[in-house]
Amino acid sequence: MDKLVINGGKRLKGEVTISGAKNAALPIMVSSILASGESTIQRVPELMDVMTMGKLLDNLGAGFHYEPGTAVINTAHINNHVAPYDLVKTMRASVLVLGPLLARTGKARVSLPGGCAIGARPINLHLMGLEKMGATIELDRGYVNASAKGLRGSAIYLDMPTVTGTENLLMAASLAKGTTVIENAAKEPEVVDLANALSSMGARISGAGESTIEVEGVDELRPLHYSVIPDRVETGTFMTIAGITGGEILIKGCRPEHSEALITKLREAGLEIEIESAGMRVTGPDRPSAKDIKTMPYPGFPTDMQAQFMALMAVAEGTSVIRETIFENRFMHVAELRRMGADIEIEGGVATVRGVPKLNGADVMATDLRASASLIVAGLGAEGRTTIHRLYHLDRGYERIEEKLKGLGATVERMKDAR
Ligand code: EPZ
Repeated sequence: MDKLVINGGKRLKGEVTISGAKNAALPIMVSSILASGESTIQRVPELMDVMTMGKLLDNLGAGFHYEPGTAVINTAHINNHVAPYDLVKTMRASVLVLGPLLARTGKARVSLPGGCAIGARPINLHLMGLEKMGATIELDRGYVNASAKGLRGSAIYLDMPTVTGTENLLMAASLAKGTTVIENAAKEPEVVDLANALSSMGARISGAGESTIEVEGVDELRPLHYSVIPDRVETGTFMTIAGITGGEILIKGCRPEHSEALITKLREAGLEIEIESAGMRVTGPDRPSAKDIKTMPYPGFPTDMQAQFMALMAVAEGTSVIRETIFENRFMHVAELRRMGADIEIEGGVATVRGVPKLNGADVMATDLRASASLIVAGLGAEGRTTIHRLYHLDRGYERIEEKLKGLGATVERMKDAR
């Protein structure tokens, strides 16, 4: 295992270029199953999760090849329909193969993802939607066995605007007979990116990005050649890094319009954020002001930025109240931030953060992807040395993070970890 050693307290300055969005690349890679032939997807970040998804596609008989930034997937010979536990347990997004496999082959055997650090992560809404489209679903020793003699369009209401649930159903509906209407659909930019990718394959989709999406099924789709949107969570992470270090960072290749709620809150907290042709120039204040947030489905404040925002609030002037409404256990970073001197109380899904003047470097443990990002933010702002253990959590979602941080003047080293 690796660890990251950070000597904090420096104002970071310079430019950073944002990589492609993990949560857009993953569903778009899977959508290649819907067509037979070779698909090429650009701006795919070099992440553990991308390689895991590649292994999963290989398992299904699709040839997966990755060269820096580009995934090439050949789906001419899908000859397996099983997503095994050992792959699914490391990456929940594997459940995204359910819809496409059903649509392409009429059957799928996908391990239930099981919970993860941040919550139980059920997929009941995915399964409900697929059943409404005519699939037979049964649970068998930790696996979902699904089969369908041809999916048919249906009206589906989602109790929660589930992101991957919406994506699974979008992909299944693209090849179903008839029209599917998804109500209370997720509106995330990554859902819109998938819809755009599917449309480039010949799918007929309207309303992506709104609450109601309509899909008119077609008989066949063609392989895709597509470039993925930039990662709004990586963008937000570098914004909070500029904020906590009091530095100035030009964040290039980002899409500010995907981060409006975050930009509003960070400006209110005292960061200067200028939209430029190359991206966003973010200048941190000497000390941020405390601001309350409540995580909500897009376009609300993103749950994937809650931990990083909390690290910034840990050194803010005043007290901030942070409400996490999407996941039931997304405060795993709090105990680690406390080790660095943060003053945070948790009551259910609400964290009260009393800002302290400075955090102190410490040994801390990454517990999940975005929690590890918040420890990097805290470590860069803290006085002294912070060592983040179990770095594999971070490698799932951040491409070459230490290289990008060094480019901004950070003193950071990746090292082998005994633990
Ligand atoms: C996606 O997860 C993202 N992952 C998550 O990013 C992100 O945090 C989340 O959306 C919310 O924005 C990918 O896109 C690969 P949900 P997903 O289904 O789709 C409940 C990261 O850090 N729910 O929108 O799994 C669920 O329990 C990851 O990159 C059901 O009850 O999230 C949760 O409370 C973490 N039944 C809420 O909905 C279902 O069938 C939102 O979950 C599905 C979900």
